[in-house]
Amino acid sequence: MNIRIFNSQEDLNEAAADLIGGLVLRNPSAVLGLATGGTPVGIYASLVRRCAAGIVRFRDVTTFNLDEYVGLPKNHPESYFSYMRKHLFDAVDARPERCHLPDGSAADIAAECARYDGLLAQAGRIDLQLLGIGHNGHIGFNEPDHALLSGTHVVELKPSTREANARFFDSPEQVPTHAITMGIGSILKAQSILLVARGADKAEIMQRALYGPITTDCPASLLQTHADLHVYVDTAAGRLLN
Ligand code: F6R
Repeated sequence: MNIRIFNSQEDLNEAAADLIGGLVLRNPSAVLGLATGGTPVGIYASLVRRCAAGIVRFRDVTTFNLDEYVGLPKNHPESYFSYMRKHLFDAVDARPERCHLPDGSAADIAAECARYDGLLAQAGRIDLQLLGIGHNGHIGFNEPDHALLSGTHVVELKPSTREANARFFDSPEQVPTHAITMGIGSILKAQSILLVARGADKAEIMQRALYGPITTDCPASLLQTHADLHVYVDTAAGRLLN
């Protein structure tokens, strides 16, 4: 496990963009696993700047997002599809047909999960998976439970997860109750994983995830079993990682 603690958000963003951009430079047709939420915004901004400067190109990159809300139309401003267009896809030279998210508005959600797993299988393997972490240890939307699923599936979001994400919506009731998420098996299959956390409110869960028991009660703790895990945190989130 490679843990790096950064004094500034800028340094963290640049280091994460170095890791992702460096991979794409070495392998222009890399397969990236991507996350949404507050954590990656500055990292995507750095990648956008690098693309505008001609340093990195996304033309041949394939991407798979971790998750999407169920029931939001794709073009809803808070759908993860809209998020990705705004923060990355529309601002770089990515090809839309290579940028994949689960479709939370699909009529047949079970078929949609199977379609997504089919696409992942076709891609072979994710070269680098970017992850944030929920306060309860969720990764993607794999919430704490007595068992975790390997493949793409529907989850009911925990009240605490809906509360945390209410900041993006006009009112808490508007946060969808369910999401489609890539499973833990697909996440752990990635060749490399970059887990990023910022802020004092993530310090305790980061300690539990990296140094606590490996348990489905804290899905991120399964990352301890991964052979190439990079952890980038700011000083506040890294306070208990000594
Ligand atoms: C988002 C995702 C979630 C978030 C997590 C942290 O695609 O899969 O696991 O990474 O909820 O969210 P933020 O970054 O908003 O604190």
